Amino acid sequence: MVRVHYHILFVAAVLLLSTGLAAGENSLERCIICHSADGNGATKEIPVIAGQKVDYLKAQLVRFRSSDRKHAIMQNQSRYLTDAEIDRIANYFATKVCQQPAKSLEYPVSVHLLANCLNCHGGREPDMSRNLPNLAGQRVGYLVRQLLVFRESAMKTAGIRRVVRTHPIMAEFARNLSTQDILTVANYFNGLGCGPQMGRR
Ligand code: HEC
Ligand code: HEC
Repeated sequence: MVRVHYHILFVAAVLLLSTGLAAGENSLERCIICHSADGNGATKEIPVIAGQKVDYLKAQLVRFRSSDRKHAIMQNQSRYLTDAEIDRIANYFATKVCQQPAKSLEYPVSVHLLANCLNCHGGREPDMSRNLPNLAGQRVGYLVRQLLVFRESAMKTAGIRRVVRTHPIMAEFARNLSTQDILTVANYFNGLGCGPQMGRR
């Protein structure tokens, strides 16, 4: 009797372990469908996560998982990730090279508008602080949407109900941006581009 129990327990443990490992692999395979194996994003709608700071990536995955940052796709994608998977996947994308072309600016941009942003986020030379995201080379549409969402959340007029993102620091900075400012800074950071020589960390 006791023997049978041990046997069943052993089989169960092996099954759990193997499905657990498989689940981990599947998670990364799912990420790659949209973010691509090199993290530069399969389409223009997908943010670049290649070379992004590892602590920032981990923090965002934890926030999607707890629905503190709301986005239907990413809440679903992160729902079943364990802390260990988040660590592993964040490290995977952080070590990829961000590769986006530099572009000339569509709008003139005032130093005054950018001074604060550059202070925290860095420009071509990314800021060294571990939890401040690099913006250089990030997709324009994604940057615009995040700034609108920060602003709307800050003003508590969130018209966009499914996409909500709050952050005490960014709420303050986004609140003071006009829609034109948002387009300008988004184009500026996207236009910086990124590549191995810029070392987005
Ligand atoms: C079906 C497409 C899709 C899949 C699959 C997917 N993502 Fe995403 N991901 C997105 C989109 C779209 C966004 C932008 C979310 C937003 O606007 O807030 C995003 C945002 C992110 C962000 C935030 C980036 C930032 O700069 O803050 C991270 C990190 C991320 N995804 C990691 C992952 C990981 C890890 C996986 C696999 C477990 C994954 N994604 C699977 C589409 C996808
Ligand atoms: C005092 C530091 C600070 C300043 C100044 C600042 N930011 Fe941020 N920013 C942050 C932090 C911290 C985050 C990460 C928020 C989070 O964890 O959700 C962030 C996030 C962002 C994001 C989202 C990035 C992503 O990958 O999803 C954008 C876009 C952004 N900031 C743009 C700006 C712009 C444009 C300015 C200037 C108007 C600016 N920031 C000024 C600290 C700052």
